[in-house]
Amino acid sequence: MPHDVIDLRSDTVTKPTPGMYRAMCEAELGDDMAGEDPTVNALEAEVADLLGKEAALFCLSGTMSNQLGVRCHARPGDEVLIHETGHIANYEGGAAAALSGVTCRLVPGEGGMPGIDDFAPHVRADAVYLSSTAAICLENTTNMAGGRVWPLDRLREVSGWARGRGLKVHLDGARFFNAVVAGGGTPREIADCCDTVSICFSKGLGCPMGSILVGTAADVRGARRARKIVGGACRQAGVIAGTARYALAHHVERLAEDHANASAFWERVSALEGVSGEPPETNLVFFTLAPHLPTPRELCDRLRERGVGMEPAGPGRVRACTHLDVSAEQVRIAADALAEILSA
Ligand SMILES: Cc1ncc(COP(=O)(O)O)c(C=O)c1O
Repeated sequence: MPHDVIDLRSDTVTKPTPGMYRAMCEAELGDDMAGEDPTVNALEAEVADLLGKEAALFCLSGTMSNQLGVRCHARPGDEVLIHETGHIANYEGGAAAALSGVTCRLVPGEGGMPGIDDFAPHVRADAVYLSSTAAICLENTTNMAGGRVWPLDRLREVSGWARGRGLKVHLDGARFFNAVVAGGGTPREIADCCDTVSICFSKGLGCPMGSILVGTAADVRGARRARKIVGGACRQAGVIAGTARYALAHHVERLAEDHANASAFWERVSALEGVSGEPPETNLVFFTLAPHLPTPRELCDRLRERGVGMEPAGPGRVRACTHLDVSAEQVRIAADALAEILSA
């Protein structure tokens, strides 16, 4: 999309800030495949400590850190349980099967947050002809299920149950800090419920790329080998890890602004005739259009003509996402454009 577009399609569209460019230039560098990049090492130590885990591994993308997490817990022929909208199962190119020989068994759950009753019937019995249930994968915040934040007590309950059944818990925390800022618990409280956590720097935190996998020293050692196998061991990766350290220092608390902008957008849009949905908890706003209104594709095309980007998100459904590169004023302009189209 051109630069002058108010781009609410995703929080992945942000460009590095001047501070991030400075961090890139000033990063101390070394060969990360040899474990010699001081900036990567500092980032890994910092995030492991923040989450109260033994170790961390810098990765190129959220898909990579998620899939390395799955691989920590499941062997070929195993199965992981995951909500039916989960990113790992739906939007990572079938990677669990392609890379690790692992299948995903989809479970229901309100708001993308399955409870014990949703998971329990899907745990396989111990039989030679059945695949073996190895882990559950959770998403916090949920993406396609509405940008919802796992309440900490619910997360503890589900995690305690899973661990009691001998299942590992992987958290897809692409928007981990959105959950923290929205009141979902401290980084340690959330991470305590999980064996591995994947966090993206390239979503709300605004980095050009990069994610991290956090867990035990043994799991991270295994993931480091697997990362090499998929071509993910980089050399002077501190150029990018420097932006992640910068984002952790400067872009976490400001996520509250994105959440406030999403709420203001929703307040305006939910008042329009034929628009329905749930108020946002974080930076993702999903709304449904009544059948007499334009389809999501038509609406997004017309918005685009007015310099506003949004994305269809299923039948009758549209997603708008606030982030570092859109101001409160721009979000108001986007809501005005939407109102004009729908009331024409
Ligand atoms: C919930 C969730 N998990 C994982 C990812 C994957 O991240 P990446 O695009 O960096 O592979 C995304 C990307 O949008 C996501 O929304």
